[in-house]
Amino acid sequence: MSEKQGDAGSGKPDKLWSGRFSEATDSFIERFTASVEFDARLYRQDIAGSIAHAAMLGEVGVLSEDEVRQITEGLEAIQAEIEGGDFAWSVELEDVHMNIEAALTGRIGDIGKKLHTGRSRNDQVATDLRLYVREEIDALRDLTRRLQSALVDLAEREAETIMPGFTHLQSAQPVTFGHHMLAWHEMLARDDGRLEDCRRRVNRSPLGAAALAGTSFPINRARSAELLGFEAVAGNSLDAVSDRDFAIELAAAGSLIMMHLSRMAEELVLWMSAQFGFISLPDRFCTGSSIMPQKKNPDVPELVRGKSGRVYGHLLSLLTLMKSQPLAYNKDNQEDKEPVFDLIDTLKDCLFAFAELVPAIECKREVMREAAARDCATATDLADYLVGKGVAFRDAHEVTGKAVAHAIARGKELHELELDELTGFSSLIEADVYEVLTVAGSVAARNHYGGTAPAEVRRAAARARQALAAGKPNSMA
Ligand code: ARG
Repeated sequence: MSEKQGDAGSGKPDKLWSGRFSEATDSFIERFTASVEFDARLYRQDIAGSIAHAAMLGEVGVLSEDEVRQITEGLEAIQAEIEGGDFAWSVELEDVHMNIEAALTGRIGDIGKKLHTGRSRNDQVATDLRLYVREEIDALRDLTRRLQSALVDLAEREAETIMPGFTHLQSAQPVTFGHHMLAWHEMLARDDGRLEDCRRRVNRSPLGAAALAGTSFPINRARSAELLGFEAVAGNSLDAVSDRDFAIELAAAGSLIMMHLSRMAEELVLWMSAQFGFISLPDRFCTGSSIMPQKKNPDVPELVRGKSGRVYGHLLSLLTLMKSQPLAYNKDNQEDKEPVFDLIDTLKDCLFAFAELVPAIECKREVMREAAARDCATATDLADYLVGKGVAFRDAHEVTGKAVAHAIARGKELHELELDELTGFSSLIEADVYEVLTVAGSVAARNHYGGTAPAEVRRAAARARQALAAGKPNSMA
């Protein structure tokens, strides 16, 4: 410890835990080990957890009715003080838990010291974090579903809009823009399902596990769990204080959300470029360049794409944090909070940005349609047409390939070839071939469940809307 940073040996030990200590904490170590700067945001959950714990202690006769009342009122007053911005957080008191406990004792005297009966900061912090994550999962699900319904609206609006569908980023077959939006929606439906699933494992109460072994007081764990809205009680006290799987699961589900948003972002950026020119975004979602006056940049999708890295990073931090930790609680776990908070903040901002931006997407329908009609995009339709006339698919593929080569050599599209040029490749080709060679004919033909036809897009949108209204994750709809 350098002299500059350190302060060892000076002063009297004065911590809530310093009974067995004979010298004060080094001042650098005090700052280094403190978490209040970031865990203060758990104050609401910490107070709710304490009120439930005290109520339960009252019910089992460990605290008197009057003590429970004083503790509860004291904690409520502290919450009001924090929310009014009048609470003085202290690094010397290390974390949110001890700041609030010390304030309670300051307010109601020695009774405040009884609150910590039958619990430890280890089950307390695990409880707080679960309550926090549970609430934020609900907020994330709301935002995910908001974005999903914006996509469904856009899909319906653009059900007839034809664009090129890509594989290998090469024009492959015409699709409808609405169908593309519903593909994005489907990704998010899985995300919503993952959040819902994760919430079930978050919603277990660690309270009563105390430091690691449980407590000798006659506590009622089911009761404190019930008061806090937990679905069940964590089954093993050692696991209850050390488990952070739920945080990792949220980070994993969040990483998938960011991966999806970054794929959408990438497409928006491409489509907005002059080279594609498929869409435009209103000025309020874009920024300019300080040197090139003509620029209008898609900053919002770019930033969302960029932020995916942070969330993936937090997933890896959390996995590494937990790797090799022996049972039960270790101070390492204090490092779980910043990644969890930042990944939630990032996800909420990105989902909100997209939910705002999607309804504002303006489709340049003519540009898309024209692009869809290029590059012999209906070649598969010609092959399918021949199959309809009794040709085996592999042979039809070969014949169509020759017609494509012929068209390319003449700088034409398939539908621009004369009928006698086409019949040169197969005598089965007749005048009705032009119906399947148009982009509208091509998409309309794909009218099965999950297909790109405008009528099918409308049906899929209606199903999605129904599932959203029923509050169900709708990927299996
Ligand atoms: N601030 C600590 C954390 O975030 C609270 C639990 C401390 N427990 C302990 N035994 N030191 O993990």
